[in-house]
Amino acid sequence: MEIIYSIRKKAAGLNRRIVLPEGPEDRTIQAADFLIGEGIADVVLLGAKGRIKEQTARYGLKHIAGARVVDPYRIDPKDEERYIEMMVKLRGEKGVTRDIAAKQLQDPLYLGAVMVKAGDVDGEVAGAVNYTSDVLRPALQYVKTAPGISVVSGAFIMRIPDKSFGDKGTLLFADCAVSPDPTAQQLAEIAISTARTARSIVGMEPRVAMLSFSTRGSAQHPSVDKVVEATRIARSLDPNLVIDGEMQADAALIPEIAERKAPGSRLEGRANILIFPSLEVGNIAYKLVQRLAHAEAIGPVLQGMASPVNDLSRGCSVDDIINVVAITACQTSEK
Ligand code: ACO
Repeated sequence: MEIIYSIRKKAAGLNRRIVLPEGPEDRTIQAADFLIGEGIADVVLLGAKGRIKEQTARYGLKHIAGARVVDPYRIDPKDEERYIEMMVKLRGEKGVTRDIAAKQLQDPLYLGAVMVKAGDVDGEVAGAVNYTSDVLRPALQYVKTAPGISVVSGAFIMRIPDKSFGDKGTLLFADCAVSPDPTAQQLAEIAISTARTARSIVGMEPRVAMLSFSTRGSAQHPSVDKVVEATRIARSLDPNLVIDGEMQADAALIPEIAERKAPGSRLEGRANILIFPSLEVGNIAYKLVQRLAHAEAIGPVLQGMASPVNDLSRGCSVDDIINVVAITACQTSEK
């Protein structure tokens, strides 16, 4: 919990503005009211003004009156023109005409992503009622990736009751949410992005393990070669990063095993970031650790975008939305 409170506090000091495309949705509007009331972030709600008024009255919300509301069907004509021009400029070659752009803007998930790209807001949070892929697609198309990064990925901040692992029980796992089968280059970029997330969100000095079923050539397979190559690329992208691989999870996490399997490793069996070779492994691993080790899993924190966009679970609570907005605000400090 202390991580979440420090994230909320940090967000409050940054004074960021986050767009919530699912504006009138029950949990979203209550979270928005709390965020404004506590000064964690300013919010822009997308949706019909009448519906937002109804929900404000229904929940007796006190602070939401101060929020900007944009109705996707009644966008200010000057803003609409600015957005359409930008969209056609960015994706004209992909077939986006003025008509297609105008139609896309009626979809709050597209409008939200375009507002982020235009710099009208600092970040976006959605997914309380929409699928991950529907939240991600407009952001991947318009917000795009950060300079030097070609792949968006999702990290989980794992809080494990056994404090002997990672940083007093805190580790980051990636990619657990987005890219099914990353190349060596993409895996290297996922490591770099996760190290940034560790610094900006958790305030943790990264120690990255590139995981495999092999440690230092103990097994031969193309998937092992991919992790070896990814480690080499990550080192060339950030020579100061403490990173090692390919290695098995036990060599990454347990100093005595690291001594035997990877003597001389800079990680010394004290990794606090685990990079998995594929989405399949990462997604299964975080869920197993969450359930079997009773870990708290905070995320996914989407990383690698030019500006932060985060996806919620459809089962999220009001508190979850508040936390993800706070995380999103903190991610803006990576710029
Ligand atoms: N990073 C950066 N850009 C990307 C990525 C990525 N990981 N994936 C796609 N793109 C870009 C494409 O290059 C394309 O750009 P372009 O249109 O400018 O050429 C654009 O995004 C759209 O790409 P598509 O491949 O058409 O998009 P698609 O509809 O396939 O969706 C998505 C991409 C949503 C990321 C898909 O790969 C996906 O669904 N991934 C898995 C998500 C998921 O289900 N995760 C597990 C659940 S989450 C959880 O359990 C916590």
